Amino acid sequence: MKVLVVGSGGREHALAWKIAQSDRVTEVIAAPGSAGMEGVARCVPAVSVGDQDALTSLCQGEAVDLVVVGPEDPLAAGLADRLREAGFAVFGPSAAAARLEGSKAFAKAFMERHGVPTAAHRRFDDVEEAVAWVRERGTRCVVKADGLAAGKGVAMCETPGEAQTALREMMQDRRFGDAGASVVVEDWLEGEEASYYAITDGENIVTLAAAQDHKRALDGDRGENTGGMGAYSPAPVFDAEVERRAYERIVVPTIRGMAEEGMPYVGVLYVGLMIDAAGDPYVIEFNVRFGDPETQPLMLQAEGDVFPLLLGAATGALDASSRDGGLAWPGAAVCVVMASDGYPRDYPKGKAIDGLAGDGALAREDDSVVVFHAGTRRAENGGFETSGGRVLGVTARGASVQEARDRAYKAVAEISFDGAQHRGDIAARALDR
Ligand code: AMP
Ligand code: GLY
Repeated sequence: MKVLVVGSGGREHALAWKIAQSDRVTEVIAAPGSAGMEGVARCVPAVSVGDQDALTSLCQGEAVDLVVVGPEDPLAAGLADRLREAGFAVFGPSAAAARLEGSKAFAKAFMERHGVPTAAHRRFDDVEEAVAWVRERGTRCVVKADGLAAGKGVAMCETPGEAQTALREMMQDRRFGDAGASVVVEDWLEGEEASYYAITDGENIVTLAAAQDHKRALDGDRGENTGGMGAYSPAPVFDAEVERRAYERIVVPTIRGMAEEGMPYVGVLYVGLMIDAAGDPYVIEFNVRFGDPETQPLMLQAEGDVFPLLLGAATGALDASSRDGGLAWPGAAVCVVMASDGYPRDYPKGKAIDGLAGDGALAREDDSVVVFHAGTRRAENGGFETSGGRVLGVTARGASVQEARDRAYKAVAEISFDGAQHRGDIAARALDR
């Protein structure tokens, strides 16, 4: 079977890498893909994720059997609907269902309707009303832009004054464009975060391991929010009892609720959770696609074939006779992101990367390490150079988090480019427990 992966980042590299290992897959195509993915996928750089016409023609020309959509923007724009209408099996939700991520207000109202545990909230379209409300309330809170803001439209506000500033930036100054026309103000939850993944065809459900990412730029969770500076799986906070609660209280009512409301959810539901001291999970956010960089450790850790799960979800025939879909999660995996100098703000491009083999893998052969490319391109001399903020996801597996982490950092030390930065404390939380 032929599979098209839509996207070009580290997440898509990890998905393509894993899908390519399936006995049932003859070829993986990636659009646009990246030079670093060429070892596992045939890339079509001329076709961008936002070009629905070109993607549809590509699917037709290549007669692909399954399309796996990586990022959220094309889903929110209706790519899955368009390709399904053209007769293709698509792993990814409709535009209507993608509002679980695309609109915080939609997601919060949906959770309220279905009794899914999440922080109490109020939605505002008027900045003065919102400001008056946070002042009157007088406590700390979290202000969120309603729409997609690349993970940046969230302000953690210690005081009503900070909340007021965040509200004016989002609603008046439109710091995140129209994403900030509406906002959600919610309670600040305490606890430990984890992300949990459910694959579904709209009815049947298979769940994956839980992972944890590191969103802030600097060690000790300081610095600005980024797309993610590293991740590891499994998340120790997510024990069997927490998993049971998250499955029964969140995953099942969400997927049933979407079907009942006439927008069955197809694809992977990423549940961003806060787990409180009593082990009760609350939804912080839904995403309608795999996490980046969480997918890198998840795909490296997973034992078994993910392709039948992706195809089953896309065709309404997901085999959920076992909750794990036949996957096993031995040991652990850790991904350390190497980023460009200045990320998440402005950064230079075109810095030569040392320490990689000609195909983009780690130069030293090591079965336990995979270097997933997020922002690289071919240099004139045939090697790789930087082309993005997040450059590489250096990912390793091991029998334990400690072993995976040691291997990942050993590999990071063997790779270099001018201005490279990475966090030194990825997965440290898992070791402290
Ligand atoms: P989001 O984009 O909604 O995932 O928010 C980004 C990050 O902000 C999350 O990963 C949390 O660390 C934090 N956050 C969001 N909402 C809350 C909340 N209600 N309470 C505490 N932390 C939150
Ligand atoms: N790593 C967070 C996300 O993918 O949204």
